[in-house]
Amino acid sequence: MRGIVDEADRIVDRSLVTSAERTKRSYELHPYPPAKSEGPSDRGGSLPPLKWMQAVGRPGHGEPRRVLVAGCGTGVEARVMRRRLPRAEIVAVDFSPRSIAWAKRFQRTAGTAPPISFQVADLTDRKLASTVGGEFDLITCHGVLSYIPQPEAVLKNLAACLRAGGALYLGVNGEAHPATRLRPWLASFGLAVDEMRHERRLRQLLGLWDALNDDGDGELATMSASYLGGDVCGPHFNNWALAEWRSRAHQAGWEVAGTDVLPLALQLAAERGNQASLFPAGVGSLAARLDQARPAGFHRIMLRRAKAGELDVPPGGGQAARRVYWTGLYSVELRRVSGRQTVKAVFRCPSLHVHFEQILAASRARALGVLRETGMASAHWTAEWNRTDAARRLLWLWAGLGVVAVGEAAAPAVQR
Ligand SMILES: C[S@@+](CC[C@H](N)C(=O)[O-])C[C@H]1O[C@@H](n2cnc3c(N)ncnc32)[C@H](O)[C@@H]1O
Repeated sequence: MRGIVDEADRIVDRSLVTSAERTKRSYELHPYPPAKSEGPSDRGGSLPPLKWMQAVGRPGHGEPRRVLVAGCGTGVEARVMRRRLPRAEIVAVDFSPRSIAWAKRFQRTAGTAPPISFQVADLTDRKLASTVGGEFDLITCHGVLSYIPQPEAVLKNLAACLRAGGALYLGVNGEAHPATRLRPWLASFGLAVDEMRHERRLRQLLGLWDALNDDGDGELATMSASYLGGDVCGPHFNNWALAEWRSRAHQAGWEVAGTDVLPLALQLAAERGNQASLFPAGVGSLAARLDQARPAGFHRIMLRRAKAGELDVPPGGGQAARRVYWTGLYSVELRRVSGRQTVKAVFRCPSLHVHFEQILAASRARALGVLRETGMASAHWTAEWNRTDAARRLLWLWAGLGVVAVGEAAAPAVQR
């Protein structure tokens, strides 16, 4: 009898409830990541390095003191941030009460100190800032907005939670996410893909998919039910190209300050001098263009409060309040080329998988050394550097590669 009532409930629900409510139910049923698995992000393998988030998102600013983890699930992402920022105040929210209960229980058992404040809150709620307190230096939101029908509403709410000079890290699905091809393929076998049903049949088909695809995402057939419920079978998916995410972010007053794959993509373009046709596109449009040619399955994006193009290098007219900062992401070795007035500069950034060499005029190499030492370009440095088109193009390339970033002139001194 009970089974029949449950089934009737489910049928009525599916026709009446919104996809947001169905997403919430799915995470209530299968909190993410599941309790036994620490998940990839607990090992820090899925979230990008804090140093990159800081250098690109908050150039010239010190360590974040207040951090919001938006859509924290059972708390893995928040615990990673706690380990990275032992002194910061961390607030972590999710609209699934069961996920928050698991996160709190785990915290009590582990004795995390100082404790993370786990709270139930809906990111689409306009009153989010008053619920969580606002004034955050850094917000991280990983694997959440891909499943929310109106991500712009969340982006606006998160903007209201940010302190001036703060930044948002967003991890969202890209066009090349496996689910983009996988869902219609599963549906062609008559399988429902808008919620987790017929799990055995689903796993059989995923086994076949795995055998045919080596897409770097591991064995889908053996993933947890909470992963499959969210990342393969869910009521709503935004698997978008970066250009689409950027345009949604613009609607909420954000600009792309960098993505984790932009430096490597630009380096590939620059290896044979193909970057010339990309000039002078700034970081946001560069990242979007390169993603169109080489689509990502998952985007790791740093966003800042700015209008389209405002974070571009070299700073154009009307951007007097912005300065160029040294990000500190690269080590640079300067080797004098014997018998010439030139220097070979070797740039290395293992965390971005980028390594390149450039031959610089001795005066440029000296200026690079000054920027590296001071951390921030003075007005004199910028004026001198911008005297030739070749130098402007070089600085533009460095901005795309993440060697330098644009920040506010009023930002506090770089903390080293
Ligand atoms: C795939 S999990 C990611 C969890 C965590 N960010 C991580 O990477 O480990 C997505 C989470 O977003 C939460 N979520 C989805 N929509 C939400 C909303 N409108 N408000 C708050 N949380 C939401 C879900 O409940 C779920 O816990």
